[in-house]
Amino acid sequence: MARQTDFIAPSILSADFARLGEEVDNVLTSGADIVHFDVMDNHYVPNLTIGPLVCDALRSHGVTAEIDVHLMVEPVDRIIPDFAKAGATYITFHPEASKHVDRTLGMIRELGCKSGLVFNPATPLSQLEYVMDKVDMILLMSVNPGFGGQGFIPSSLTKLAQARKMIDESGFDIRLEIDGGVKANNIKEIKEAGADTFVAGSAIFGAKNADDTNIYDTILGEFRSELAAAKV
Ligand code: DX5
Ligand code: ZN
Repeated sequence: MARQTDFIAPSILSADFARLGEEVDNVLTSGADIVHFDVMDNHYVPNLTIGPLVCDALRSHGVTAEIDVHLMVEPVDRIIPDFAKAGATYITFHPEASKHVDRTLGMIRELGCKSGLVFNPATPLSQLEYVMDKVDMILLMSVNPGFGGQGFIPSSLTKLAQARKMIDESGFDIRLEIDGGVKANNIKEIKEAGADTFVAGSAIFGAKNADDTNIYDTILGEFRSELAAAKV
């Protein structure tokens, strides 16, 4: 059976936080699949964003889609149970931010969530060698973490192909997600390199008319037609 692919995950980092519930509803009705939720602590990365309270608020607002929590915090273990309780579907973290990666992955699954490891542009995939059976998602950063709106780092394509090979050879059901600088003009080659899940922040939430009305259905439509044209 062919693997499932083409999951679009808008990063709410670029949403209008004053109207967050409405923004999330709008991207989901425009065809997005997953909500990408960037958690930054002004320590592991030089920026500060949102925590479990906001995840819980989105669930209370009525969001039923998967929420993909990307932890850019150090240490990670203390905050994981709070996100599990707040309704996270996936919880991913950077191996540099946990002293005991295997234990942290196990904790995420024990709490009923899907687990994942995130690789910065310079972090080697060798960190995966002994934990392939414990990850549900591999997230490759195609920018340095901390900010939206940065340019896609081209070597991420080679790394995607390597990660795809590792996943296919492992036989495990693992999502391969890319995060940073994803646009309509590069999403096709990113899929061809092996990604199945695509985070995009500024490209999606920046799709607005001058009067601030959104055209999320237009940009998501462009993403879908580019993805459909990919040769994989
Ligand atoms: C960066 C975050 C990304 C960010 C992507 O640290 O992990 O999810 O929102 O933003 P764009 O799509 O604008 O590069
Ligand atoms: Zn992210």
